[in-house]
Amino acid sequence: MAEPIKDRMEKLVSLCKRRGFIFPSSEIYGGLSSCWDYGPLGVEMKRNIKQAWWQTIVQNRNDVVGLDTSILMHPRVWEASGHITGFSDPLVECKKCNLRFRADELKEQKCNACGSPLSEPRQFNLMFKTFMGPVEEQASVVYLRPETAQGLFVNFENVMSSTRKKLPLGIAQQGKSFRNEITTGNFIFRSREFEQMELEFFVKPGTDMEWFDYWTSTRLAWYVSLGIRPENLRLAPHPKEDLAHYALCCTDVEYQFPWNWGELEGIANRGDFDLKQHARFSGKGLSYFDEESKETIIPYVIEPSAGVDRSMLAFLCDAYAEEPDKDEVRIVLHLHPSVAPVKVAVLPLSKKEPLAVLSQQIYSEMRKQWAAAYDDAQSIGRRYRRQDEIGTPYCVTIDFQSLEDRQVTVRERDSMQQIRVPITELKATLAAKLCV
Ligand code: GAP
Repeated sequence: MAEPIKDRMEKLVSLCKRRGFIFPSSEIYGGLSSCWDYGPLGVEMKRNIKQAWWQTIVQNRNDVVGLDTSILMHPRVWEASGHITGFSDPLVECKKCNLRFRADELKEQKCNACGSPLSEPRQFNLMFKTFMGPVEEQASVVYLRPETAQGLFVNFENVMSSTRKKLPLGIAQQGKSFRNEITTGNFIFRSREFEQMELEFFVKPGTDMEWFDYWTSTRLAWYVSLGIRPENLRLAPHPKEDLAHYALCCTDVEYQFPWNWGELEGIANRGDFDLKQHARFSGKGLSYFDEESKETIIPYVIEPSAGVDRSMLAFLCDAYAEEPDKDEVRIVLHLHPSVAPVKVAVLPLSKKEPLAVLSQQIYSEMRKQWAAAYDDAQSIGRRYRRQDEIGTPYCVTIDFQSLEDRQVTVRERDSMQQIRVPITELKATLAAKLCV
């Protein structure tokens, strides 16, 4: 019988807390709704995901450069982008218990909690407002960015002139975004503070749909290359009537989360909307002189926009397994080595010298190359379990025989198979297996 969804998510959330992947924010004060802290293992995993993205999107390509723009931007940016007028959700409030809901997410037009009638919907802007400087007045209002994308558009001219690159050219960044979502939930799936990985890929008009198709398949393949099972991924093209105001077309990459399919990333053809809007609002000409046609053009842009936290949740959900092992059940995260927070664990069979000395030597060699762990507490079986539970692909066990034959045991997480390897060949053996 299939496991209830709630149980599966509860188990994953509990593992994340127990092993230091993700904690509720400000927990000693009772937590802050929908805000999360990444723990010692979580921060490693998140960095790995971001690095894998940065490497394939920026470092391995000649046609993409990176940026890191500020979270606070000139308020006119959000007028030009359409966020001040258009970035809102319909909010309804229960007339009796005052609970608030997103009108478009309710199946019936009555309160989900007490069944009472609801107010008329009003548009609620999702941007967080704050004030710049000491005076809290309208003139000093600034917003926490609701997407990283606008930092890329407003730097188009700076990037083109400083890099002297030609189209097609992508500009990419990773960073925090903030949205005052009416409803949050499903752990880190929808929160008010989250991280995005966004690419704005500027192309010549007329080549845009080719590039749209290219980025759609490239981005789908990226998740598969990092271990997500293809059957748990799908593309969901947006119907024309549901497109955002800036998009000519858009397709989501969706993952089958335990509760339902959910968006991991949106790939949009934004046409020339953004450059035109910023040119209009700033008075600067954001155009490109095409040497080939000798024409000045406004580039079109293809935008693959992914969420770091959602990707991490998808990697965790896909990797989580409970497997029978003799009379017990082992919990294991079958994480791809690139995203696993720890790549190698060094486990001496005894805490005593001289085994500890040799093990520490091996550990210090391993950690020069990979995120490594050292664990000498409790039985070896328990230590393997602890590493399985956090997704460590390989364990290296040092036993008394190792002192004699200078060999160690390498145990693989998924198959649990063990091989003996000479210490002199350990690094090369692991490098070949991990490929990271
Ligand atoms: N610049 C385009 C843009 O921001 P989006 O579809 O609104 O597009 C892109 O967001 C991605 O950011 C989403 O696919 C999702 O992964 C992530 N994201 C958006 N809102 C989020 C939230 N409240 N919590 C976590 N991730 C979110």
